[in-house]
Amino acid sequence: METKKKSSFSGSLGFVMAAAGSAVGVGNIWRFPYLAAKDGGGVFIFIYIVLLLTFGFTLLVTDIAIGRKTGQGALKAFGTMHPKWNILGKFTFLVPAIILTYYGLIGGWIVKYILVYITGQGGPAAQDGYFTGFITSTVSPIVFLLIFMAITAIIVYFGVEKGIEGFSKAIMPVLLVLIVGIAVFSLTLSHTDADGVTRTGMQGLAIYLIPDFTGMTFSRFMQVLMDAMGQLFFSLSVAMGIMITYGSYVKKDVDLNKSITHIEFFDTLVALLAGMMIIPAVYVFSGTEGMAAGPSLMFISLPKVFDAMGTVGAVVGLMFFVMVAFAALTSCVSIMETLVSNCMEMFGTDRKKTSLVIAVIYIVLSVIVCLGYSVFYFEVTLPNGSVGQLLDVMDYISNSFLMPLIALFTCVLVGWVVKPKWIEEEMELGGYKFGRKALYRVMVKYIVPVIMVVLFMQSTGVLAWIESLIK
Ligand code: PHE
Repeated sequence: METKKKSSFSGSLGFVMAAAGSAVGVGNIWRFPYLAAKDGGGVFIFIYIVLLLTFGFTLLVTDIAIGRKTGQGALKAFGTMHPKWNILGKFTFLVPAIILTYYGLIGGWIVKYILVYITGQGGPAAQDGYFTGFITSTVSPIVFLLIFMAITAIIVYFGVEKGIEGFSKAIMPVLLVLIVGIAVFSLTLSHTDADGVTRTGMQGLAIYLIPDFTGMTFSRFMQVLMDAMGQLFFSLSVAMGIMITYGSYVKKDVDLNKSITHIEFFDTLVALLAGMMIIPAVYVFSGTEGMAAGPSLMFISLPKVFDAMGTVGAVVGLMFFVMVAFAALTSCVSIMETLVSNCMEMFGTDRKKTSLVIAVIYIVLSVIVCLGYSVFYFEVTLPNGSVGQLLDVMDYISNSFLMPLIALFTCVLVGWVVKPKWIEEEMELGGYKFGRKALYRVMVKYIVPVIMVVLFMQSTGVLAWIESLIK
C-alpha cells in the first residue's frame, strides 16, 4: 500500500529497535530455554550459534533486502521480483497464521503468573504440579488467554501499535537488566534433594554452555539441528514475511549491514541470557531429568528461583512477568497486525471489520489449542520423532514444516532466478560494505537449499524412513 510508505523508520536505530521489538518475545524467553534444555544444553547452544551466523544471517539479509528493494510487504514483494513467484508471498502468510493459534495462549500463561505474584501465591506456585494443575484445568487458562488476546485485538483494532511499541522499547532495557540479575542469582543456587545429591547453579551453567557430544547419534543430531533451525527462524521472525515488511519501511540511506548485525546480536543475547536464568535453576531443583519438561519449563523453574530469593522474590517475580508480558504483547500484536493488514489487502476490507473477524477466529482457535491440555488432551508422535500435544503440533507445522519450505523457495528464487547480485546491490547501496558477501553467495545458492531439503525430509519423517530401508 502506498500510504504505508509514509510510516518509514526514522533511521537505523529506529529500525533496529522495531525489528528487535518483533523479534524479542516469548521465543527468546520461553521457547529458546526449553529447547536448549531438552536438547542437552551446550550442544544446542553451539549448533544454534553456528546456524545463526550462517543461516540466520542469510535469511535476515534476504528478507530485509527484499523488503527494502521492492518497497513492498511479503504479499506482493515476491511477485515484484518475478511474476511467477507471487504465490510464495501468500504461502509465507501461513506461518504467522499458525503461530497465532498458540502465541496468545503463552501470553495468557504469563498473565496468570502476574496474578500469582500480585496475590502472594509465589510459594504454592513453586510447588511441583502447580503449573500442570493450572493448564490442565478447563476454565482458568481460557480466561487468561481471553484477556491476553482481547488486549492484542484492541490494540490492532484501533491501530495504535506504535504507542505500545514505544512503551515496550522503554522497558526492554529494564527487562534485560532484570534477566541478568535473575541469571546471576540462578548461578548461586544450590539444592540437596532427598537422596542426598547436591547440585549447584554453576554445574548447571556448565551443562548449559559446554557441548557434550558423547552418545550423539545421527538421528538425534538431526533432531537437535531441526529444533535449532526452527527456533532460529521463529526467534528472528524470518521465513514468514514479517522481516520483508519491516525491510520495506527502512530508508535507503540506512546501512543494512550494521542493522542486521545488531538485530542478530540483540536477539541472541536475550535468548542466551534467558537460558542462563532458567537452565541452571532447572538443573539445581530437578536434575537433568527435569530438563525435558518442554513448553512448561519456564513456568515450572522460574517460580522456584523466585521462591528461593525469599521475600524479594515476590517483587522480582511480579516485575519479571509484567515485563515479559509486554515483550509478548508487542510480538503478538505484530503477528496479528500482519494477518489483519494482509487480509485487508487481499479482501479489500477495512481495519475494524477485519480485526474483529480475525480476533473472533483466533480466540476460537486458541481456546481449542488451550483445551489441548485438558478436554482434547492427546499425545502424538510427530513425524520428526518428538512427542507432543496440540500446541506442539501447531508449533511443528509452522516451525518445522512451513519455515524450511519457505526458506528453501526464497533462497532458490534469490540464488537462481533473480541471482544473489540482486540482493548484494541493495546491501551495498550508499557505498556500504557487505561484509559477509562471499558467505552469503554460497549460502543462498547452495547450502541453504540443500540443508532445507534435508531438514524437510527429517521433519516429515522421510529421512527416518530412508534410514530404516538402508538398515
Ligand atoms: N520472534 C518472536 C519471538 O521470538 C515471535 C514472532 C513470531 C514475532 C512471528 C513475530 C512473528 O517471540
